[in-house]
Amino acid sequence: MRDTAQEKLVIRSERLAVRRAMTEEARVAAGSVLRETVLADPRLTMGGTVAAYYSFGTEPDTRRLVFALWKHGAYVLLPVLRPDGDLDWAEYDGPDTLAPGERVPLEPTGPRHGVDAVRRCAAVIVPALAVDLCGIRLGRGGGSFDRALARAGAGTLTLALAYDGEVVPELPAEPHDTPVRAVATPSRGIQALPAGAGNPTPGG
Ligand SMILES: Nc1ncnc2c1ncn2[C@@H]1O[C@H](COP(=O)(O)OP(=O)(O)OP(=O)(O)O)[C@@H](O)[C@H]1O
Ligand SMILES: [Mg+2]
Repeated sequence: MRDTAQEKLVIRSERLAVRRAMTEEARVAAGSVLRETVLADPRLTMGGTVAAYYSFGTEPDTRRLVFALWKHGAYVLLPVLRPDGDLDWAEYDGPDTLAPGERVPLEPTGPRHGVDAVRRCAAVIVPALAVDLCGIRLGRGGGSFDRALARAGAGTLTLALAYDGEVVPELPAEPHDTPVRAVATPSRGIQALPAGAGNPTPGG
């Protein structure tokens, strides 16, 4: 298992280096195509609650996506990182309802709805440095989104957002890694993935 964790560290740093090498212009362009892709999908805009995240650093921009979903009338939840690395959830009710968090640049300041709030979501949008064809995703290494994804309902669209080139044939996976059911990239739009098929065998 240590080897798998080591492998993830290597891929994570390679992926972050590729993102840092992108121009700001390319990141913004990718973020806006992803925003239009998500907004064109009725599963994300036909009502219901959408859990999303507020991008930072070199991530594809989701700040304008979050704003647009909220303007469309979605009930939007954003994560609040707990000291144990798990994610609580609170409502996004416009940019004024965010403030710097202890370990996260911006978090919602409203009442927290608990870690189980993702169970009731129509869609859960998560970050990823890479996603494989079974839906296994590589995040920043906190395991926070794995925990949240494990609570998503059976009918929930779990969607990772990635740049082109970040969907790869296979990623190393540990038993706690929870696959996503779809990935969106600027060039290919939303691709459905056989979530669950990518769970590693014990000890594998
Ligand atoms: N359900 C869990 N309970 C406690 N710790 C967990 C759980 N899931 C993952 N972790 C911890 O998180 C660590 C990092 O996990 P992993 O490498 O899968 O992160 P990641 O998928 O890149 O991060 P994230 O899900 O936040 O994007 C694991 O080594 C493990 O210690
Ligand atoms: Mg993981």
